[in-house]
Amino acid sequence: MSNHLLSISDLDADRLHALLKTAEQFKNARYRGSELRGKTLAMIFEKPSLRTRTTLEVAAVHLGGHAVYLDARQVGLGVREPVRDVAENLGRWVEGVSARVNKHETVAGLAEFAGVPVINALSDAHHPLQALADLMTLKENFGRLAGVRLAYVGDGNNVLTSLLEAAALAGLEVVVSTPEGYEPDAGLLERAQARFVRDPYQAVQGVDAVYTDVWTSMGQEAEAEQRLRDFGGYTVTPELMEAAGAQAIFLHCLPAHYGEEVVEAVAHGPRSRIFDQAENRLHTVKAVLAHYLGGRPWSG
Ligand code: CP
Ligand code: NVA
Repeated sequence: MSNHLLSISDLDADRLHALLKTAEQFKNARYRGSELRGKTLAMIFEKPSLRTRTTLEVAAVHLGGHAVYLDARQVGLGVREPVRDVAENLGRWVEGVSARVNKHETVAGLAEFAGVPVINALSDAHHPLQALADLMTLKENFGRLAGVRLAYVGDGNNVLTSLLEAAALAGLEVVVSTPEGYEPDAGLLERAQARFVRDPYQAVQGVDAVYTDVWTSMGQEAEAEQRLRDFGGYTVTPELMEAAGAQAIFLHCLPAHYGEEVVEAVAHGPRSRIFDQAENRLHTVKAVLAHYLGGRPWSG
């Protein structure tokens, strides 16, 4: 099994459930520990972040360790010096590296040469830390994961990819609805045994949760106008939630562009769990650091 968390596929079902169990224990106990005593996490960011940066740093503190924030532009990642040299340097000083990168190959390159665990803090292709918090939130709401029905409406992006990979391990039943040209990888849909339904109103019928994310991800700003046009009709509105049924909760990884992929009345409404999701980013990332950097056993 990989020492790195670059995508959810680096986990198997046992490790996924171990992370979620640890996160639940941490949350219930308001856990403060010493797994990271004397240890440092380097956090490299090529893109902005509220949740990921804050939770990684707070998690390191809660486990008795320390996190160092590195702006990729200041570091000159891949510009001032090659990714390999950055990785080899960091690996001599710290016990773990997290990286939020434009291109997935950059975080993969760091993992190849750092010699310490590397955690993907979001790439263009994957967002594994988000999927862990998403699963934790679903489990809290429904008491289980296997058989929970989730509709993802919007862009077939990094967040959906990690959610589908997690769904495959946890047995979620996912329905995906995107406009033409924005579908996720067909092989991934198949691996997750997910259904694809073009019409969002049909896709959401009877599901337990409706999930969406921004239509324009970080790095795609030049396509924003085109995307606004292409995604017309895919906004999560009170009417769409009505079509889902009274049982359905609403999820979003945040940040949200209100009026685009979701309206504020839904995101801040009674069925929304977006701030529980955000809270669970902390508990799940604490679990990740405890297991990957802190030597917490995966079983037992
Ligand atoms: N959901 C998420 O990753 O948020 P940030 O971009 O603020 O880290
Ligand atoms: N898909 C979004 C997620 C942000 C947390 C992005 O990549 O910008």
